Parts: sequence; structure tokens; C-alpha cells
Amino acid sequence: MDNLRIVGGTPLHGTLRVSGAKNAALPILCASLLADGESTFRNVPDLTDIRTTANLLRHLGLDAEVAPPVVTITSRPVVEPDAPYDLVRKMRASVLVLGPLVARYGRARVSLPGGCAIGARPIDQHLKGLEAMGAEIRLDHGYVYVEVPKGRLTGADVWLDVPTVTGTENLMSAAVLAKGRTTLMNAAREPEVEELARVLNKMGAKVEGAGTDTITIQGVEALEPVDHAIIADRIEAGTYMVAAAATGGDLFLDGITFEPMRAVAAKLREAGIHVERQDTGIRVVGKPPFSPVDVTTAPHPDFPTDMQAQFMVLMCLAKGVSVITETIFENRFMHVSELNRMGADVTVQGRRATVVGPAKLQGASVMATDLRASASLVIAGLVAEGITEVLRVYHIDRGYERIEEKLRAVGANIARVPGEV
Ligand code: EPZ
Repeated sequence: MDNLRIVGGTPLHGTLRVSGAKNAALPILCASLLADGESTFRNVPDLTDIRTTANLLRHLGLDAEVAPPVVTITSRPVVEPDAPYDLVRKMRASVLVLGPLVARYGRARVSLPGGCAIGARPIDQHLKGLEAMGAEIRLDHGYVYVEVPKGRLTGADVWLDVPTVTGTENLMSAAVLAKGRTTLMNAAREPEVEELARVLNKMGAKVEGAGTDTITIQGVEALEPVDHAIIADRIEAGTYMVAAAATGGDLFLDGITFEPMRAVAAKLREAGIHVERQDTGIRVVGKPPFSPVDVTTAPHPDFPTDMQAQFMVLMCLAKGVSVITETIFENRFMHVSELNRMGADVTVQGRRATVVGPAKLQGASVMATDLRASASLVIAGLVAEGITEVLRVYHIDRGYERIEEKLRAVGANIARVPGEV
């Protein structure tokens, strides 16, 4: 497996093009199951998770041509709506085929996604919503079996106990072909949920209210294939904004709108970072010293959990004490022990991490454990004195397109090297 070898100390300067949003592309590719014919998706990032999703759709009998930034899916009636463990275990977001399969075929067998490094990741809300729409659920030997006795889902009012992102997406995709009207309450408001609704409506669905906590879907008889360009990735953009700030650089993030970045921009500004909204992107200028800022992760439009690890690195450099509280996932501080090995001073008690800065980070060999933890270690390496080797880079390749190429193009001393672990 590859490693990333970084020599720290170079501020990032120049323009970095933000790729399409992974967490928008995944549910959208799965939604192609809802309509026969050829759908074309543009601005799709070249990521492992995209290829994994394409393989799953191929397993279900669809044709998928992955030529980033274009992905073409030719959908046809699925012979067997079955998503097996050996595919689902590679990426829990595979559960996003559940809603479309049940909507279209009235049944599905999907391996339970299981937990991952950051938490248990249950799907009880996904299943609760499908039951409300007339599905019968059975769990057996690690699989969830969904059957709709009437053959077609019936619209229903669903209250989500948590504003689950993929839960909202799965149920929205299930409701578009249901008989009657579905209302999803306490729905996730993430931009990726809105983007999925946009695509479903382009396919002929009737979805209203996406982006708010109440989404209504009037079921239709059939949907059409679609041609759509995916929105930019706000988490990739936020990651590079933090990297620019932490290295004391001046970076223009091209292709990202300001709206989805408001919470991250606000916290960067509180830390003393210059964040400038421009026509086609966002400019970030970081001049140490940074001010300590307390952050609590929460559902959109609040500060995203997917930016917590990255922001923590910046707080390691701030002059003072900051408290970072993770309210979404139960185990999302695995980057802390590695950052402390690099000279950071972070203490974790349950869901709270207390960061004492400024720390003088030193390069080290560090191990990534999940996608965003990996990103935070790369940022730490860009800032640290000396050489950092980030091992198990496959985590990063799941969510960051050509990260070393993008960073090298704006001045970073970073290379992908073959690793032994
Ligand atoms: C999505 O995961 C994202 N993944 C995650 O991004 C992101 O961190 C997360 O939303 C939160 O914003 C994709 O969109 C593919 P949730 P998801 O369901 O949908 C609990 C990344 O780095 N919950 O909103 O799985 C759950 O345990 C990834 O790109 C239930 O209890 O997250 C968690 O505590 C990591 N029951 C909370 O809700 C359910 O049925 C939020 O989970 C579903 C979720």
C-alpha cells in the first residue's frame, strides 16, 4: 500500500480546482437504478468510492462506464436486487442502493453495512422509514431483507429520530415511485441531499423541500434517465482551506460556492484567517498566530463532522486553548494520538477534545484510520518540521482526488511512495 511522504514548511500558494462532491455522487449514481436507459453524470471525482459504487451497480446488472469526470450508467431491469457483503463491506454507502431497489422492484437483499472506524453506523432509521411505507423488514445472517407485500411502496409520514444524511437520501429515493405522498420530517439538510433531489426531479420525480428539515415527495409512475453535473465537494474544499491557513499560505479554491462553506468560513475567520468570497470560488490567506476557537460539530448548516479532524490541526497551531466537541459520531478522535506523536497537545474526554497551542509539530510516520483523519495528518505533515510519512493512503484515495498532485501544484513538497504496510 502507498504512503504519502511530506516535507513540511512550505506555504500553499496558487489556485486549486475543487472536484465534484463524493457524498453527492454516491447517492446519485445509486439513483440511476430508478430509471431504465442511459444516464450521464459529469464532474464526478476520480475516487475509489466511485469505482466501488460502479462495481456494485454492475453486479446488479447495469452497465457502468467510469471515465472521470464522466460516469455513464446504462440501467435496465435488475434481475436480482441483491447487494452482497463482499461489495458492501468495502463501502458502507453501498446501503444507498436499498431505497432505489425497493422502490423499483418491491424487494431487496442488502448486506448490513456494519460499523466502521468512526462508529457503529446503524441504519435503523432507513429501515423504519421503509416500514412506514409498507415494506416488511427481516434481518438474517448479516443481511437485511426488504419485501413489499403490495409490490409497490405507499407514501407515508416519516419522522427521523436523527437527521441522517444517507437515511434521508435512501427514503427520498424510495418515495419517488411510491403510491401517494411521503413526508420526511427532521430530514437531513446537507447540500448533498439537495443535489440528489435536484437529480431526482430532473428524472421526473416530484420532490419539494430538500435542504430543509421537511421534504415532501409525491410518488410518480416512472422516471427517466438523466444528464447531470455534480456540485463541488465542500469537504474537499474545506480541507484545502484549512491546509492553506495552517501553512500560512494564500490559496484560491476554484469552483466552490460560499453558501455551503458558511460554518467552516465563520470558524476560520474567528481564528483570524482571511476568507474571501469571490465569483468562482473562495480565497484563503493564513497568517499565524491563529486564535483558539471552540467548535462543536452538528448537522448542516452547522459545522460539519467531516471537517473536525482537519480543523483540529489548525487549533494545534493557535495561541491558547480550544475545545472541539464531536456530537455526530462516537469515535471520531482517532487522529488525536497520531497528532500528539507529532508534538500536538490534545486531550480527549469522551466527545470533547481539548487542544493546547501553539504546538511545534514535528514530522513522523503516522497511520491513517479513516478518510478525514488521514486528511488531518496530511495537513499536519504540511506544517510540521521535517518529514512525515502518512501510511495507508488508501483511506485518502477514497475521498480525495489526486491529493498529492493537487497539493504539489500549489507548492507542497509531497510525493506518493510505495509502502510496506
Ligand atoms: C454521511 O454518512 C456521510 N457519508 C458521512 O461522510 C458524514 O460524516 C455523515 O453523513 C454525517 O454528516 C455519505 O454521505 C456517504 P448519518 P451517514 O446517517 O449518512 C446515526 C465522509 O467522511 N444514525 O447522517 O452514514 C449515526 O450513527 C463520510 O465522507 C442512526 O442512529 O451519517 C450517526 O451517529 C464519513 N441511525 C448519526 O446518526 C440511522 O439509521 C449521523 O449519521 C442512521 C444514522
